[in-house]
Amino acid sequence: MALDKPYLDVPGTTIFDADQSRKGYWLNQFCMSLMKAENRARFKADEDAYLAEWPMTDEQKAAVRARDLNWAMRTGGNIYFLAKLGATDGLSFQQMAGSMTGMTEQQYRDMMIAGGRSPEGNRVVGEQGDAQGPVSQSAAWKAWQEAEAQQALADAVESADAAAKGKASGHARITASVFSSHVPAIGAAVDHGKTGEPYWAPMFKGYDFSKQWMKENTPDVIFLVYNDHATNFDLGVIPTFAIGTAAEFEPADEGYGPRPVPVVKGHPRLASHIAQSVIQQDFDLTIVNDLKVDHGLTVPMNLMFGSPAEWPCQVIPFHVNVVQYPVPSGARCFALGQAIRRAIESYDEPLKVQIWGTGGMSHQLQGPRAGLINAEWDNRFLDRLIADPKDLSTMPHIDYVREAGSEGIELVMWLIARGAMADVADVAGGKAPKLVHRFFHVPASNTAVGHVILENQS
Ligand code: DHB
Ligand code: FE
Repeated sequence: MALDKPYLDVPGTTIFDADQSRKGYWLNQFCMSLMKAENRARFKADEDAYLAEWPMTDEQKAAVRARDLNWAMRTGGNIYFLAKLGATDGLSFQQMAGSMTGMTEQQYRDMMIAGGRSPEGNRVVGEQGDAQGPVSQSAAWKAWQEAEAQQALADAVESADAAAKGKASGHARITASVFSSHVPAIGAAVDHGKTGEPYWAPMFKGYDFSKQWMKENTPDVIFLVYNDHATNFDLGVIPTFAIGTAAEFEPADEGYGPRPVPVVKGHPRLASHIAQSVIQQDFDLTIVNDLKVDHGLTVPMNLMFGSPAEWPCQVIPFHVNVVQYPVPSGARCFALGQAIRRAIESYDEPLKVQIWGTGGMSHQLQGPRAGLINAEWDNRFLDRLIADPKDLSTMPHIDYVREAGSEGIELVMWLIARGAMADVADVAGGKAPKLVHRFFHVPASNTAVGHVILENQS
C-alpha cells in the first residue's frame, strides 16, 4: 500500500515531504550554511570550490549554479532553505517565487498587485488554469533532462532484466520483539573486557541464548525504541518521540569518550516511510537526521550481538522522552506501537523487521531513595507484558515511579514494541506471540535487568 499523498496532483506544486527531504538533505543543508556571512563570502568568491565541500548530487549542484529553483525543488530542495541562496544573491521572496512561474519580474508583481493568482483551474492537474505549465526552465535544466532521457532508456532495460530475474516482492513484516534493560555499566564491562568477572557473568549468561537466537533470526532492520539520556538532546529541544532517518548514527560521547562500538547504519527509506505513515496516523514525530546514539541504544546491541566489527543489520533509532515530565503515557506508547506496525507492514519490500523496547526495569538513580529495586513488581510487569499488554498499558506513571523507581519509567517504552506485535487486536488480530526467552537478574549497577524475546507466529 502506497503512502497517502493526495497532494501529488496539485498543479505547479511540490510538497516537501519525507521523501523529498531525504532526497534534498545535503542541498538544503548547503543552503542552510549560507546563513553565515563568512560562508556566503566564500561561496560568492568561488562557487565551484564551495559546492565541492558538500556531498550533493551533480544535478543538485548544477541546479544551484543555474539558480533554477524549480529544478532545485525537483531534486529535493525546499523553498525556505533555497531562499538562503536567493538571499545570498540579494533577491526578495517575491523575485524568487516569480522566477519559478515563467513570468517576468514585472508581470509577476503586477499579478500580485491585481489580487494574486486565482485557484480557479489550478486545483487539480489537467484543469485549464494558468499554473498548469509548462514550468519555467533554465537552458541548463533542459540540457540535463535530455541527457537524463538517454540514461532512463538504459535504466529501463536494466530494470526489465531485474524483473525477469524475479526480484523479490512483498511487504515488510515484524518478525519479533525484543525487550531489554540498558545500563551504561554493562557497556563499560563489554568495553573493558570484564564480562567474565563474577559480578557480571550471571548477567551476561542470561543473554547467551539471545545471541544464538539472533544469529539464527537476524532481521534486515531493527526498529529500536530507546531513550536519549541528555546526550544528543539537551534542554534546548525536547522531542517526545523522535525517529532517526539518517544513513548513519555515530556512538555518542557521554563524557567518557565515545564507546568503541560500530557506527549504526540506518535505513533512510524505511524510516522516512514510517515517519510519514505514523504522522498521518496522528502521532507527531520529530524527524532527526543528525543524531548520535547513547548507551540506551548501543548497550542492547552488545547484549544481543556481542561485539562484532560491524552490526549485522540496519537500525532505525526511535527516541522517547522519559527525562522531563510529562512523558508519554503507556496507552499512548501502546497505540503508537500499533501505528508503527501499520507503517512497517505497508512498506513495499519484503524486509524482516524486529522491534525492540529498551530501558527499565526497576531503578532509581537519584535522591535518598536511589537504589530502589522491586523484583516482584518487575516480574509481574513481565507477565502482563507477555500476556495482557493492553491492560498493562493503562497503568499510570505514578505506579511506575512508586513501584519501580523514578527511572523505572523507562519501561513505558516497552509498550511501543509490544503494541507492534501481531496479536494486538485492532491491528492484525493475529496469534499471541511465542515467548522464546525470559530472563531477570539483579543487579547491574543500580538496575534490575529484565529481558524478553517474543516471536510473531503469523
Ligand atoms: C543506570 C541505568 C540506566 O538506565 C541509565 O540510563 C543510567 C544508569 C544504572 O543502573 O547505573
Ligand atoms: Fe536509562
